Amino acid sequence: LQALAARTRPDLPIGAAVALGPLASDTDYAQQLIGEFGALTPENAMKPQALSPLPGVYTFEEADALLDVAESRGMAVHGHTIAFTEAMPRWMQELPTDSAEDRAASADALLGYVTTVVTHFRGRLASLDVVNEPFDVDQGTDLQQNVWYRTFGPDYPVVVSRAVHDADPDVAQFVNENGADVPGERQDALLDLVRRTNELGGYVDGVGLQAHVYDLGTDAISAEDLATTLDTFGAAGLQVRISENDVTDAEGADAQAEQYATVLTTCLGSPTCVAYTTWGVDDRYDWFVDDDGDLRQGHDLLFDDGHPTPALEALRRA
Ligand code: XIL
Repeated sequence: LQALAARTRPDLPIGAAVALGPLASDTDYAQQLIGEFGALTPENAMKPQALSPLPGVYTFEEADALLDVAESRGMAVHGHTIAFTEAMPRWMQELPTDSAEDRAASADALLGYVTTVVTHFRGRLASLDVVNEPFDVDQGTDLQQNVWYRTFGPDYPVVVSRAVHDADPDVAQFVNENGADVPGERQDALLDLVRRTNELGGYVDGVGLQAHVYDLGTDAISAEDLATTLDTFGAAGLQVRISENDVTDAEGADAQAEQYATVLTTCLGSPTCVAYTTWGVDDRYDWFVDDDGDLRQGHDLLFDDGHPTPALEALRRA
């Protein structure tokens, strides 16, 4: 896939989210990665809860091992992620922020985390999600009032971005969000947030559009809408990464394949689109908790038990 994309867009990394476990233990899976992808995003290994389980304690082993794998295969790495409500360790979530004194202490702890982590990875990441999913879960345009917000106020992305820049001035910075893939209020809010962050001294290069398509009836992404979206961010001087694309096969493999191809083709056609990433490689390792709380296997990726799906064929044609 990377080689095919390079024919029209030699600059465009085609990546996948990857976990170390299957990569290290399953040779077929590792081969698929080498064969198809030129970049990877650690699926969970660089989230705060993975990197710092206790205050002042850092566990870099898994993330470092993934970086070693990527580097040995010449793959670029996108870091994921610094400020993310859902994936903070308990100590971070529960930092007291009631008084000014509390907030001074939580500011120190949070900035210490950013500096330690970004300094550790400096020079090895091409790009990084400095803020992930800033807005209320699933929809809406209100910022989640996490510990970053409670410590620094609504302009906390400025603080995160500047701290990242101080530790690694070369890493490209992104704010990543779901449900902002097509024009609408949530996309407007994301654009406003990034513009304001940069006006106030931040260093954000662009946005990540997750492009999770769980229901083709309600969240399908059309070529027109995505092209308009890319134009909008491009006109604002921002880049766009398609950061976590996956598509349900509930409406059949053909509809799934078509949706995948639409997103990639549109990305290939716009210089504003600077990365295309699928959220996983093989359905074998793709599990989710459904509405009834049951653990179910996903069927939304490019391989199923080592076999290419029609979605992969469609991407190759795109
Ligand atoms: C998901 C991982 O894929 C799961 O393994 C984990 O249990 C929960 O997080 N948006 C994001 C990603 O930005 O970090 C999420 O990753 C999927 C949704």
